[in-house]
Amino acid sequence: MPAVPIAGTPEQPLYRRVADRVAGLIDAGTLRAGDRVPSVRRLSRQLEVSVSTVVEAYRLLEDRGMVEARPQSGFYVRPAALRDALEPRRSSTQATATVPEIDDFATRVMKEVTEHWEGVSFGSATPNATFLPVTKLNRLMSRVVRLRPDTSASYDTLAGYAKLRTLIARRSLDAGCALEPDDVITTAGAQQALAVCLRAVTKPGDLVAIETPTYHGLLEVLQALHLNALEIATDPREGICLVELEKALDKRKVAAVALIPSYHNPLGHCMSDDDRSQLVKMITERKIPLIEDDVYGELPHEGRRPRACKAFDEEGYVMLCSSFSKTIAPGYRVGWAVPGRFREAVERQKFRLSISVATPTQMAIAEFLADGGFDRHIRRLRRNYRDLSYRYAYTILDAFPKGTRVSRPSGGHVLWVEMPEQIDSTRLYDEASNEKIRFVPGPLFSATDRYRNFLRINTAKPFSDEIERALQTLGKLASKHR
Ligand SMILES: Cc1ncc(COP(=O)(O)O)c(C=O)c1O
Repeated sequence: MPAVPIAGTPEQPLYRRVADRVAGLIDAGTLRAGDRVPSVRRLSRQLEVSVSTVVEAYRLLEDRGMVEARPQSGFYVRPAALRDALEPRRSSTQATATVPEIDDFATRVMKEVTEHWEGVSFGSATPNATFLPVTKLNRLMSRVVRLRPDTSASYDTLAGYAKLRTLIARRSLDAGCALEPDDVITTAGAQQALAVCLRAVTKPGDLVAIETPTYHGLLEVLQALHLNALEIATDPREGICLVELEKALDKRKVAAVALIPSYHNPLGHCMSDDDRSQLVKMITERKIPLIEDDVYGELPHEGRRPRACKAFDEEGYVMLCSSFSKTIAPGYRVGWAVPGRFREAVERQKFRLSISVATPTQMAIAEFLADGGFDRHIRRLRRNYRDLSYRYAYTILDAFPKGTRVSRPSGGHVLWVEMPEQIDSTRLYDEASNEKIRFVPGPLFSATDRYRNFLRINTAKPFSDEIERALQTLGKLASKHR
């Protein structure tokens, strides 16, 4: 490759222009599947850019599914099967609002995917213990309990453990927010944060606009609070369709909007800054609270974490919800809400639901954050999740019937799989259970019985022969539905 100026608009970062140049060679067939792309040093010399720029460019190509890294060997062009694989289609808006019915099947699936069992589970969206700082955290937990035995003899304050709230406020700078400790209220996980925020701003029978598909736990909260869901068309790359959301907000009386803008579960997309800014303007003008679920915000597959919608919120209509479940310890049940102008109402709801959050777990997490190891830990986690996402996607595309589409998440650790229409994931669920394999069937991600031919796969387990075999078995079972 000659040392010629790199094309692209100057405002594009250099690594993107380098990536586009290599992508052009792949698209043109100059570099073919299985070919080794020029080594990092060679390309850096040829293009007269730094080694780190080339590394970033190759990481971006990896993210796009065009190349893959092989340990101690370099980057290789990926097979077209993965490169050209189609993503699930954009969903459509459901015109009528319906109370989400959580039926017996969904209840059984939720119970089964969260229980410990000896089979292979792609069900619950939980990180794998091997990726989490379990030993260090448990040591910190013993220390705080030893040093502060009094904590178990009283309730924590209503807002939550002060040191932890300070550290959460400090970390929120990375998400573009300038928060004070008193802006933060701790909760028992993000699930409770969602519940208290929704309870604070709605009453039974109200309408809540959501993405479709969306996290099944959000639908559970809507049902528990007797709220109606208005499902808005969502694109697996861009996120919620703002044009359709705006139309819906103008046509109907919507009490709240509840979205997962960063590494959506199950789609994996991340909303752009422009869309976030437009969204916050849209809800602020109409004085409608936006419940922003940021539970995966710290888990981009590439680069820095995105800015939260909260960063664009000048009037306090954004209610940010998050937790340490996906990054440190789901079992500790520590999360938080930043409820903006609805703070008092949220505090009241928290008191009604649980009075306070367990103090020792909050203290142990605060010590972990204060210790400074979090950033290193999170960088490793991001790399692992990115690599695993490819491995799983590749295996699924190989094993599942022709016509299967797989999402290309830009963060987090779940894949959304769209199978050919005649495949019924609820039937597949029972067939797979008989083979000791579990996943979450598509219909659980909708209030209106959609996504029957979809399923969600958690990709946070280290890849192994057992995982590969389980995905192949799932693919074979799915093929029998044709
Ligand atoms: C999008 C989303 N929000 C909230 C939660 C619940 O998180 P927590 O364990 O912190 O309650 C989950 C868990 O899977 C999730 O995927």
